[in-house]
Parts: sequence; C-alpha cells; structure tokens
Amino acid sequence: MNEPARFDRLARLYRWIEYFSFGSYLQQCRMLRIVEIVASPRALVYGDGDFRFLAELVRRAPEMQVAAVDASGEMLRQAAKRLSSDAHVRLEQADALACEVGAFPEAPFDLVVSHFFLDCFDEAELAVLAAHVNAAAGEGAVWVVSDFSIPRLPVARQVGWLVVSGLYLAFRLLTGLRTRRLPDHGRVMRDSGWRLEDRRALLLGLLVSERWRRSYRMNDGEQHMNMPSNAEARLPPSHRI
Ligand SMILES: C[S@@+](CC[C@H](N)C(=O)[O-])C[C@H]1O[C@@H](n2cnc3c(N)ncnc32)[C@H](O)[C@@H]1O
Repeated sequence: MNEPARFDRLARLYRWIEYFSFGSYLQQCRMLRIVEIVASPRALVYGDGDFRFLAELVRRAPEMQVAAVDASGEMLRQAAKRLSSDAHVRLEQADALACEVGAFPEAPFDLVVSHFFLDCFDEAELAVLAAHVNAAAGEGAVWVVSDFSIPRLPVARQVGWLVVSGLYLAFRLLTGLRTRRLPDHGRVMRDSGWRLEDRRALLLGLLVSERWRRSYRMNDGEQHMNMPSNAEARLPPSHRI
C-alpha cells in the first residue's frame, strides 16, 4: 500500500494558503451542514487537517463522542491546540486506508465526516476506505462529504478544471500526493451501500457539499436498498455521481 501524502509541512500555513486561494468558501462549504449533524452522538472525522471544522462541531455539540483520524502528526498537534480540553475527541494518527475504525471504542458511528479528503485517493483506495467505514458505521448513519467538483457550465468548467489541476500539482510537489484527478467518489459510495440524500454547490459547482445515508440492510444483511435518491434523480445523467 502507498504511503499517505505528507501534510506535516503544510500544517501551520494551511489555513492561510486556503484563505489566500479561496477566501472563506472552503470553510463555508465545511459548515453548510453543521446544523443537520450536531445531534449525532458519535462521529468519525477523517483528515480534518488543522481542525477548524471539528473545533466548531464540538463547540456546538460538546457531548458528541468523536474519533478523528489523520495521517499527519503536525496537523493533529495543531488540532490539539484548537480543541477545548473538555471536548470528547480522540485523535488518532493513522493511515485511513489501514485504520480499522470498526474496532474504535466509539463505534458504531452515527456520523462520518470527510471534508476535502476523498480527493486524496483513487477509486480503488476509496473502496478500501468505504469498507473500513462500513465496518464502523451504524445502520442509517450519515456521511457528510465536501469536495471539489468540475462545474458543468462551459466557462466555469474550464476554470474549474484549471483550478483542480493546479491544486493536484501543488499538493503533489508539497506533499507527495499521488492522486492526479478527482475520483468518482459517488460511484464508490453507492457501490458500498450509501445513498445520496442531498447535494449543494458553491462557486458555480466547483465546491460541493453532500449528505449520504447508509442504506438499510434487508433480510440477513446481504442486500441493500439502494434506489436512486431524490437528490440523484434531480441531477442530469451526465452529472450523476
Ligand atoms: C487536503 S487536506 C484536507 C484537510 C481538511 N479536511 C480541509 O477541509 O481542508 C487532507 C487531510 O487528510 C490527511 N490525509 C491525507 N491522506 C491521508 C491518509 N491516507 N490517511 C489519513 N489522513 C490522510 C492529511 O494529513 C490532511 O490533514
């Protein structure tokens, strides 16, 4: 298995690089669903970076039990500074592709969060990640995903493609990230038994915020109800994920 990308050297500057390039849009995208998820008792948060999202989540939901997985020790050190000492957050430094989150004491989780994280992987890796999540997520769990996307409108599409390509190049040089294009995370999540419930776009579709729900198992757990959801049915076929 490949080594995770090395985000340590970006940890201190991460938020400033982000503000410089996208203003407050990425943080807006992360926060879009916070009201929907604060009532979840147990959350699994992947690759939250310097934890601006998680700090806000536990500020609003101080009783929430959270396990946060990130490969970068320096990102986790920044997180520890940001989190209040009475928050119920356990920080786990691990490669998400090798981390048995199903064995975590907080499992089963009601909520999984991955902001700008799935784009670090290709589809085969995402299938591995989804299998780990499925071993840890309860029935009916929600998975909130923020990510980049290529817009559909012609000019926005070209600009979006340039922005995303530039980001991949920068992360390859700075962190050793091997992924070179946005994965089709929607296909992998659907194949893994998740159903898209809602999708919102920012910046003409360059940023998306999605809420997925784990399909309920039928009978002996072999089969999943995985009908196209309303959110997916509303998307034109070329844009379904
Ligand atoms: C692009 S940053 C996103 C950070 C943050 N979620 C955000 O919204 O900006 C990716 C984060 O995922 C972590 N990461 C990348 N690959 C990982 C892996 N294989 N396992 C665990 N964490 C990983 C990095 O250390 C970094 O904190």
